[in-house]
Amino acid sequence: MIANLVTATRSSGAPLTADSKHLLDVDSLSPEQIQTLGSRAIEFRQLRASQPFKSDSLRGGSIYTLFFENSTRTRVSFEHAGKALGADVINIAASTSSVNKGESLLNTVLTLDAMGIDALIVRHPHSGAPHFIARHVNAVVINAGDGAHGHPTQALLDVLTLQDHLGNLKGAKLALIGDILHSRVARSDIIAFRKMGVEIAIAGPPTLLPEGWTPGPNSLGIPGTEVTVHETVEDAVRDADAIMCLRLQLERQTSGLLPDVNEYSRVWGINAERLALASPGAPVMHPGPMNEGLEVSTDIAHGDLSLVENQVENGLVMRMAVLEHFCAPTREIA
Ligand code: NCD
Repeated sequence: MIANLVTATRSSGAPLTADSKHLLDVDSLSPEQIQTLGSRAIEFRQLRASQPFKSDSLRGGSIYTLFFENSTRTRVSFEHAGKALGADVINIAASTSSVNKGESLLNTVLTLDAMGIDALIVRHPHSGAPHFIARHVNAVVINAGDGAHGHPTQALLDVLTLQDHLGNLKGAKLALIGDILHSRVARSDIIAFRKMGVEIAIAGPPTLLPEGWTPGPNSLGIPGTEVTVHETVEDAVRDADAIMCLRLQLERQTSGLLPDVNEYSRVWGINAERLALASPGAPVMHPGPMNEGLEVSTDIAHGDLSLVENQVENGLVMRMAVLEHFCAPTREIA
């Protein structure tokens, strides 16, 4: 257990108070906390750039990743982040666990918790699963994506990536394009970017927008989550300071919502012609995994204005900042 840890140094940023034990959604973070986690992530990025980075700030701690859905970058970056901070990280894929023998979610997490773990990083296809788990275990629970509901660390790394590029986010316009209805990234990004003062322009097939959303002002129903829905992708990206493409969440779509994926690319895909409507130099982001050629053309996905790889690097250092904060909140931070 992480109990008597060495003191880590934090050289910048406002003090983080552990007002919530878990990271279940980005709603629970203030703009100042988002900023402080970002500053710490930047410090980790600098440390990693100048030397092979290894810290022992979570030494003695054990972190389990429990993924009930596929993942490459999120799971690997959490594992890498935990190890870089000195923790023991154990990965459990639900497909190879006793879940396959019929063990319930509750009994699975109670079993893991009984091992005396410090943190459980959870990805689950059902919205609210990490919240349910957090009510039953002693470990810190970090949501690594629950259904179409939330993906807080993705939102944190997306904010950091755009802030790196634009400097000040206040008043910037972000175009969020695609499957808003099923995307937990869209939901968490809207909450986080709005907290940071970003204006959000939305476009996507009407069947893939949240119920009741029509062109004009809309919101997630949470104060401060106002967005503007546009009828066409051209209207949404015009003068945008950045574009975020979203993956078509085919695994979450009921049939009939999208008659033809090629038609999707023709009407909603981001390509050079559409990018040219945005502000000069506006970058393109995508949380990955990309359906290249569908949501975004290959030349743009790998072009000079793509921030996709920056998002991946920031995913690692942001998860280091998150693990450091949430897994060792009682440590003295100088
Ligand atoms: C996202 C996810 O799983 O929600 N991927 C990720 O974590 N980088 C986005 C997606 O699957 O489309």
